[in-house]
Amino acid sequence: MIVTVIFGSDGGATKGVASRISKKCQGRAVDIKTATMADFENCDLLILGSPTYGDGTLQTDWEENIDKLRGARLKGKKVAIFGTGDQESYPHSFVDAMGILYDEVSGLGATVVGFTDTKGYDYVGSTAEREGKFVGLALDQDTQSGLTDKRVTAWLSGLI
Ligand SMILES: Cc1cc2nc3c(=O)[nH]c(=O)nc-3n(C[C@H](O)[C@H](O)[C@H](O)COP(=O)(O)O)c2cc1C
Repeated sequence: MIVTVIFGSDGGATKGVASRISKKCQGRAVDIKTATMADFENCDLLILGSPTYGDGTLQTDWEENIDKLRGARLKGKKVAIFGTGDQESYPHSFVDAMGILYDEVSGLGATVVGFTDTKGYDYVGSTAEREGKFVGLALDQDTQSGLTDKRVTAWLSGLI
């Protein structure tokens, strides 16, 4: 199974997670800044990752390159999403960027896989939560980095 992880990252946390995820599934991690349409399309499982900035927005490189995603043929494609955030400092918009990516790829007809339990997190609100589940894997490198490896491994085992 060919896995491609496409990420955006300001401070490096999401980049680090993307590379850990891609190593665990012998995939490639590609920065959204340099990603091509082929990177989105030529894989069996597409994993998208973004930190949340502002008051619940996508990371800037994702915003600036969102047309690459919108132009990709993702109908029926298996897509999984992960998000990095900080539930202590931003409890009202925790990992909101995952919700934005979810709406984008759902609109393109992708099949989103890898929903996760919201148990184990302490936040107030998140647009990444739909019907009681996160639309992807929520990671908090600021306050729960010790849980990341276990969360990633468990998540991937359900995807691959
Ligand atoms: C100015 C600023 C705003 C942020 N806003 C949010 C937010 O709304 N929700 C959230 O979950 N995390 C928020 N964060 C936390 C980042 O998403 C988190 O630190 C992430 O790991 C950064 O990833 P990066 O190093 O790949 O850029 C914010 C951080 C900063 C500095």
